[in-house]
Amino acid sequence: MSEIAKIELDGKVYELPVIEGSENEKAIDISKLRELTGYITLDTGYKNTGATKSAITFLDGELGILHYRGYSIEELAEKASFMEVSHLLIYGELPTQTELTNFETNIKKHTLVHEDMKRFFEAFPAQAHPMGVLSSMVSSLATFYPESLDPNRSAEAKNLTIQRILAKLPTLSAWSYKNSIRHKVMYPRNNYNYCENFLHMMFAMPTEDYHIDPIVVSAVNKLFILHADHEQNCSTSTVRIVGSSQANLYSTVSAGISALWGPLHGGANQEVIEMLEQIHKDGGNVDKWILKAKDKEDPFRLMGFGHRVYKNFDPRANIIKKACDDVLQKLGVNDPLLAIAKKLEKVALEDEYFKSRNLYPNVDFYSGIIYKAIGIPTEMFTVMFALGRLPGWIAQWKEMTENKEPIGRPRQVYIGKTSREYVPLSKR
Ligand code: ACO
Repeated sequence: MSEIAKIELDGKVYELPVIEGSENEKAIDISKLRELTGYITLDTGYKNTGATKSAITFLDGELGILHYRGYSIEELAEKASFMEVSHLLIYGELPTQTELTNFETNIKKHTLVHEDMKRFFEAFPAQAHPMGVLSSMVSSLATFYPESLDPNRSAEAKNLTIQRILAKLPTLSAWSYKNSIRHKVMYPRNNYNYCENFLHMMFAMPTEDYHIDPIVVSAVNKLFILHADHEQNCSTSTVRIVGSSQANLYSTVSAGISALWGPLHGGANQEVIEMLEQIHKDGGNVDKWILKAKDKEDPFRLMGFGHRVYKNFDPRANIIKKACDDVLQKLGVNDPLLAIAKKLEKVALEDEYFKSRNLYPNVDFYSGIIYKAIGIPTEMFTVMFALGRLPGWIAQWKEMTENKEPIGRPRQVYIGKTSREYVPLSKR
């Protein structure tokens, strides 16, 4: 392989180094481009831009491969617990039994949130979207733990913040739901594991315990693992950019939650179920909606379809589709939305429009049907995504701070007015 790339500008040839990742991904290193040539690159939406070198997640969009630290997503989703995967992403290795016990015990020490935070919940309107509540509450954690404000204080302090945010996100998430229905919040119970505890806080009531169903726990565990990291996606890039200014981890993750909320990113899981409900109410005529999705005059898009990097299939969608059948069957749920989703997928996969644009179901297409089957309200779907993505955000932030990456600051090509003189108000 050539180790240099040549670029010719204004009749002069410049040589740029080519670098290769451990999975043979090639990149032209343009870090000295402007210094050498006076030029910058333009890549709106960063479709061709590597923002960092990372050792956390590898994905091959053409082959539909996704690995966390070298382990395949298929194997992890089948065999691991979400806590093992969190440890793997954040610290680089699967934990030994002792490491896992310590990791879980340390997290359990911090599941409560300060009582004063309950007053914040009460101040939100009842109809507040839980993602808005969650990003605000996570950001406010920084005000309760001022020692977190310097993210580089010490490895110990950094770990404490990591444990705190992992411990508190399920509590804050479940409380944002309880608050939206104006129910009394349920306190965490530390005899439960991470996923069980979240379900308990979501569904238990002061008058009634929540029956922890292993089928439901296993489905949540799998979904969290499938969402745990996805290299430099929109919310993770947000996390890395915010963190690069040395902002604390709480503010950084809060920004990631806000980025995730958008319907083109994590918010798509809520949009998918709303779309399926709309199609169902409309009589279930799938062909009509496929036509709408193809019509450029119509703003309707097939939500849960298409992906910036997967151009063949999304391996997470394959796992979720199977899990979806499995969970619904085990729980004895017969959801007509699943039949509509499968029909939509079948029709789209045979349609020239979708085939020629490489549009396939993504991770969000079937996840909502599982969430619905296990009783998660639609507005909480993206919160579920955030809970799953948290270890990935933490791992990416930790890697970036440890590598002492510079502040993220892209350039631009200015296309506005050129220099002109100020015109006094009376003369305009
Ligand atoms: N329905 C109909 N047409 C679509 C869809 C869709 N879901 N997605 C893309 N297209 C079309 C576009 O109109 C465009 O057509 P054109 O070439 O004729 O103009 C072409 O396919 C390429 O689409 P882009 O929007 O340019 O692709 P991009 O990589 O920028 O966007 C995205 C990817 C945002 C995921 C897009 O496919 C989309 O909006 N999908 C629906 C929302 C969704 O499911 N988001 C979740 C993504 S997964 C995640 O974030 C966890």
